[in-house]
Amino acid sequence: MSSPFLLLLLLISMAAAGQLRPRFYSETCPDAEFTVREVMRKALIREPRSVASVMRFQFHDCFVNGCDASLLLDETPTMLGEKEALSNINSLRSFEVIDEAKDALEKVCPGVVSCADIIIMAARDAVALTGGPDWEVRLGRLDSLTAKQEDSNEIMPSPRSNASYLIDLFAKFNLSVKDLVALSGSHSIGQARCFSIMFRLYNQSGTGKADPAFEPEYREKLYKLCPSEVDQNVTGDLDATPRVFDNQYFKDLVAGRGFLNSDQTLFTFTPTRMFVKLFSKDQAEFFKAFVEGMLKMGDLQLEQPGEIRRNCRVVNDHRRQWERSSWGKDHSLINGNIFWKMERPPG
Ligand code: HEM
Ligand SMILES: *[C@@H]1O[C@H](CO)[C@@H](O)[C@H](O)[C@H]1NC(C)=O
Ligand SMILES: *[C@@H]1O[C@H](CO)[C@@H](O)[C@H](O)[C@H]1NC(C)=O
Ligand SMILES: *[C@@H]1O[C@H](CO)[C@@H](O)[C@H](O)[C@H]1NC(C)=O
Ligand SMILES: *[C@@H]1O[C@H](CO)[C@@H](O)[C@H](O)[C@H]1NC(C)=O
Repeated sequence: MSSPFLLLLLLISMAAAGQLRPRFYSETCPDAEFTVREVMRKALIREPRSVASVMRFQFHDCFVNGCDASLLLDETPTMLGEKEALSNINSLRSFEVIDEAKDALEKVCPGVVSCADIIIMAARDAVALTGGPDWEVRLGRLDSLTAKQEDSNEIMPSPRSNASYLIDLFAKFNLSVKDLVALSGSHSIGQARCFSIMFRLYNQSGTGKADPAFEPEYREKLYKLCPSEVDQNVTGDLDATPRVFDNQYFKDLVAGRGFLNSDQTLFTFTPTRMFVKLFSKDQAEFFKAFVEGMLKMGDLQLEQPGEIRRNCRVVNDHRRQWERSSWGKDHSLINGNIFWKMERPPG
């Protein structure tokens, strides 16, 4: 592992994640959580998959320099976007749902709710609206001033990953084996591309054959979905009930019907198998562990300058920002020294 990655992890563990708290916006924007939930409710009706796509943002945002909405920044002539990083390009989708939530929030309380917090609320809402648990999220994040495509490339795991690699990766973020298995249960909703499983179907570990862990009938189904000459953007369901957040994903893994290699490997490997079995039999245990994992992942923070973006795709104009005193009182308290460390813009 290269040193920037180690440095990053060190910074994350030093960060003051404890300063995030429930009902952060109760005074400054009391309708914030309701507003995001309503946007997600509409998105679910418009296109059921979109809420799964939005839920995935939390993982891809929080693992790369903490939960700071760096993922949402469009690339600029001087900055590569994380949207184009290896795991994200032609894959992450439904950014417009976050835009919609931000627009709605800017109408009710301009300049108050961060895009990073919107991701956290929306991910929770995706789960709650599709039949999963509902929980109270900790809020008060700031949005980053930049994106780091290289960090995303280095950190985000490939669908080929095996469980021992994933255990090590999650441990770097202080996430346990149980957290890993529970959080992988997010694949209870949504879809993935043939692109992500071609190797598994046709050349697992360079053998020229399919992964032996496939249940044969399921494998035949996937051969039909993803023939070797397929347009690899064709998508398949991540579990048998892709619109319902439940423990079907784990039942599928036990039956050899996991879609991604990174899914099925959780059953193949001993240290993760016991949790797959547990969650396949006990949905309440899964929900409890999932909520715990989402809260821990949502607490990942990097000490860095931040702001409340007005548009989640672009950083604010700092010349103007400096003159405004609109940074929330709580934010300047929590991040006061970070704020003052920022370079004073020219003029
Ligand atoms: C454990 C390591 C993980 C790996 C290797 C992984 C990998 C992937 C891959 C390859 C896809 C499909 C991408 C494509 O084919 O375009 C996917 C989809 C998805 N992932 Fe993960 N993932 C992991 C963990 C997570 C976590 C922790 C979450 C959220 C908490 C998450 C949420 C999702 C969701 C909801 C989808 C479906 C998105 C959609 O339908 O648009 N994943 N994941
Ligand atoms: C890591 O997780 C444990 C158990 O969840 C917690 O007690 C500890 O404070 C965490 N450490 C850091 C650096 O976040
Ligand atoms: C798991 O994956 C890693 C990284 O790709 C590899 O080095 C390791 O040999 C694999 N472990 C097993 C047991 O297959
Ligand atoms: C299968 O993978 C191996 C090792 O990665 C590679 O050498 C071989 O060319 C691949 N075969 C095909 C048909 O792609
Ligand atoms: C998927 O579609 C995008 C454009 O929508 C294209 O750029 C990309 O090459 C396609 N990927 C594959 C694997 O076919």
